[in-house]
Amino acid sequence: MKILHVDLGDRSYPIYIDHGLLQNEDLLQRHIPSGQVMIVSNTTVAPLYLQPVVDALEEKQVATVILPDGEQYKTLESTSTIFDALLERRFSRNATLIALGGGVIGDIGGFAAACYQRGIAFVQIPTTLLAQVDSSVGGKTGVNHALGKNMIGAFYQPRCVIADTGVLETLDDRQFSAGIAEVIKYGLIRDKAFFLWLENNLEALLARDKEAMAYAIERSCINKAEVVAADEQESGLRATLNLGHTFGHAIETGAGYGCYLHGEAVAIGTCQAADLSRRLGWLDDADVARIVALFRKAGLPVTPPQDLSTQRFLELMAVDKKNIDGKIRLILLESIGSATLPVSVEKQPLEETLNQYGRN
Ligand code: NAD
Ligand code: GLY
Repeated sequence: MKILHVDLGDRSYPIYIDHGLLQNEDLLQRHIPSGQVMIVSNTTVAPLYLQPVVDALEEKQVATVILPDGEQYKTLESTSTIFDALLERRFSRNATLIALGGGVIGDIGGFAAACYQRGIAFVQIPTTLLAQVDSSVGGKTGVNHALGKNMIGAFYQPRCVIADTGVLETLDDRQFSAGIAEVIKYGLIRDKAFFLWLENNLEALLARDKEAMAYAIERSCINKAEVVAADEQESGLRATLNLGHTFGHAIETGAGYGCYLHGEAVAIGTCQAADLSRRLGWLDDADVARIVALFRKAGLPVTPPQDLSTQRFLELMAVDKKNIDGKIRLILLESIGSATLPVSVEKQPLEETLNQYGRN
């Protein structure tokens, strides 16, 4: 078993990565000392993986909330459903909330844990590749608003992250590829050696070779943990984890939540960010081609929806947490392996990217 640490002083916590961790009753029991446990999952994940978690905690008062599956349910209403369940069962302040699922369940569950009685213990059991390499680590929690993605939320760290790589066997190929988008992100923003490894080992990763998966998850979590430890609340460095996300969130919101998977929108957005970085003179044509080729090889889309106009893109990108004084700020690439901090760019190159990159 790999054990990594997110170093945040008295809120530090371990990330456990291994095949078969859901069967490790001792691990679950050790990290859930409270008597009352609320497990939040969804209608897809619960039938597959809820039982071993419930069994491991059989001596406790365990309750469950099973939400409908989908990004369109990452809402305040779903959060309220969790509050209702916690209150109906008189769960107290020392209860623990476990999020068992992908990033959607992790984000909603973490937000509910942050708010209930001003904060109860929270454990992440991520079940998608995307959640294991990104969303379960670092304490960003929250829900979407009709006008903007992830616009309501809190920073709230889990007590631990338990990433059982065995559960990825039931993930479909489209979802697996979506997770690879965030894996590629780490290579692009701060780990060129990892980018090169991905170029050379993508087939093995796509074939879900155990060693390749374990390496990709570990390397991603190391990068994420370092960034979060350096800048937990995103005053600077952490924003680099948002490479491609301003374009990507606009695509997710513009197309309607759930139409593009988050990782798919990030893949397209990162290609747009690479194109803009080239227009600003930081990347060359060959760099952009390499980046686009890697996303394409991972089975990800690389061009924006044709019906999302430049004007609409700009409107949607104006609702982003990195923006200051109403100005759009973006994470771009200085080179493969090095991202900028948020930068305001001139209207002209941004519009050129939106008008020209990937347009028919
Ligand atoms: P998701 O949670 O919707 O999961 C994808 C699909 O896979 C769902 O249908 C889910 O039910 C299913 N699933 C989950 N585990 C499975 C398994 N083991 N086997 C079979 N099916 C399984 O999507 P996601 O890609 O995991 O997460 C995307 C969300 O994460 C977005 O809302 C995004 O904004 C958020 N996110 C948050 C952070 C953060 O730092 N908090 C970072 C990145 C992304
Ligand atoms: N996924 C972006 C972050 O955690 O900051």
